[in-house]
Amino acid sequence: MKFNENFYWGGAVAANQCEGAWNVDGRGMARTDVTTGGTVNTPRMITFIDKDGNKQKVPNSHSFKLPEGAHFAVFDDELYPNHDGIDFYHHYKEDIALLKEMGFKMFRLSISWSRIYPTGEEDTPNQAGLDFYRNVFTELRNAGIEPLVSIWHFDTPLALEEKYGDWQDRKYIAFYEKYVTTIFNEYKGLVKYWLTFNEINNTINFLPDDASDEQYQEAYQHLHYQFVASARAVQIGHKVDPENKIGCMICGITYYPLTSDPQDILFNRSKWEKGIFYCGDVQCKGKYPTFAKRLWKEHNVQLDITDQDLEDLKNGTVDIYTFSYYMSQAVTTHPNDDTVGGNMSFGVRNPYLTYSDWGWALDPQGLRYYLEMIYDRYEKPLMVVENGLGAYDTVEEDGSIHDNYRIEYYREHIKEMAKAIENGVDLIAYTTWGCIDLVSAGTGEMRKRYGFIYVDKHDDGTGTMKRMKKDSFYWYKKVIASQGEDLD
Ligand code: BG6
Repeated sequence: MKFNENFYWGGAVAANQCEGAWNVDGRGMARTDVTTGGTVNTPRMITFIDKDGNKQKVPNSHSFKLPEGAHFAVFDDELYPNHDGIDFYHHYKEDIALLKEMGFKMFRLSISWSRIYPTGEEDTPNQAGLDFYRNVFTELRNAGIEPLVSIWHFDTPLALEEKYGDWQDRKYIAFYEKYVTTIFNEYKGLVKYWLTFNEINNTINFLPDDASDEQYQEAYQHLHYQFVASARAVQIGHKVDPENKIGCMICGITYYPLTSDPQDILFNRSKWEKGIFYCGDVQCKGKYPTFAKRLWKEHNVQLDITDQDLEDLKNGTVDIYTFSYYMSQAVTTHPNDDTVGGNMSFGVRNPYLTYSDWGWALDPQGLRYYLEMIYDRYEKPLMVVENGLGAYDTVEEDGSIHDNYRIEYYREHIKEMAKAIENGVDLIAYTTWGCIDLVSAGTGEMRKRYGFIYVDKHDDGTGTMKRMKKDSFYWYKKVIASQGEDLD
């Protein structure tokens, strides 16, 4: 057996993409509540009222800044897919029963910060929000499923963002600290595995290569405050319950140089440094890597870092390294028109790979490469906490859904994980992304489906929310039951 009996097979979702109930039981808003739907080729838009009272829509991005004097707003004539999600808020019992039927050992989900502290600045938490997650975690425990909880999955309370910018103020560290202290205490004994920030590296990784020095300054400062917040969370979590295991969460992309030109090799190295190692090193080693100074110098970055921050980073290293993996990317310094279209997909076309309908490179071997490289670097237990294929599914007349493409995708990735384990990597969990269909983060679409479970919800807002089992549901059940041996 390559995957031992303690291996955590499971799946993952995020609050803002599945819960819906955006304005129910005292929840405050998050950025996703003012973000419209998009498509593979058209961006999602953020809606707000400018200082002169005019309605405005601009493309969502990691470097979006609300203009001076503007405030976020929901417009009646726009559709906001995250408002309904798949209504997990009211369907969680039914959904957890289906996960149990598949044999799940772990379910990754996130807490919506603004359900607990609606504006982020209250002194006391919202009891209805606390109760909701207590009920969900209890339901999971009763089903024999270990919860893995993301504390932040792109959903800072919108009121904080409007007042202080997107993590541009040191005050965020204290707001986050209050929030994590509440949830660590509240769910002590119910939740043991925690992740501090989902895909923390997106802030820097998805900045275009030609971003301005000002954008770099803001991105690195944003990250520094999140690093300190994360390190303080690790310390608090360990103090509240020494049993807690707390991880970082990195958007894992395997970068390859397109050519053997030394310029491409160096460019590729900078992709790994800036995109992957920068965050992992700080969170796993407790200090900035040597190359950080070079990266800051390239863009004249001057950071607000105190001695206490450095002490916190040192004392708040994570217990586990977790990451998402969807694709590899080929990069080059040579002019190249053959770029890959699609959402959130950068880089140039790799002639040795095929691509999903959303332009994401399908590369199972890239997962093994990533696992082995990262394990050698940090020697901490690893979890693959997102991996999956966003694809168009067809519901047949009899209600069946034949998603062989998804089964094929998982089969090849699981085989590569097995090889990594054989090669000595301490991989302890695999939670596939969107194990139940949900709203796409990048495009806001429902039609970009990832699930083993189909949800009857569509991009125009229609649908009954009925849950249906796809062929992959039965396949994954068999995989789990056989500890990853039966992949046919
Ligand atoms: C990761 C995020 O970036 O990728 C998820 O953590 C997201 O929130 C997932 O849903 C897949 O991306 P997309 O754009 O297909 O939803």
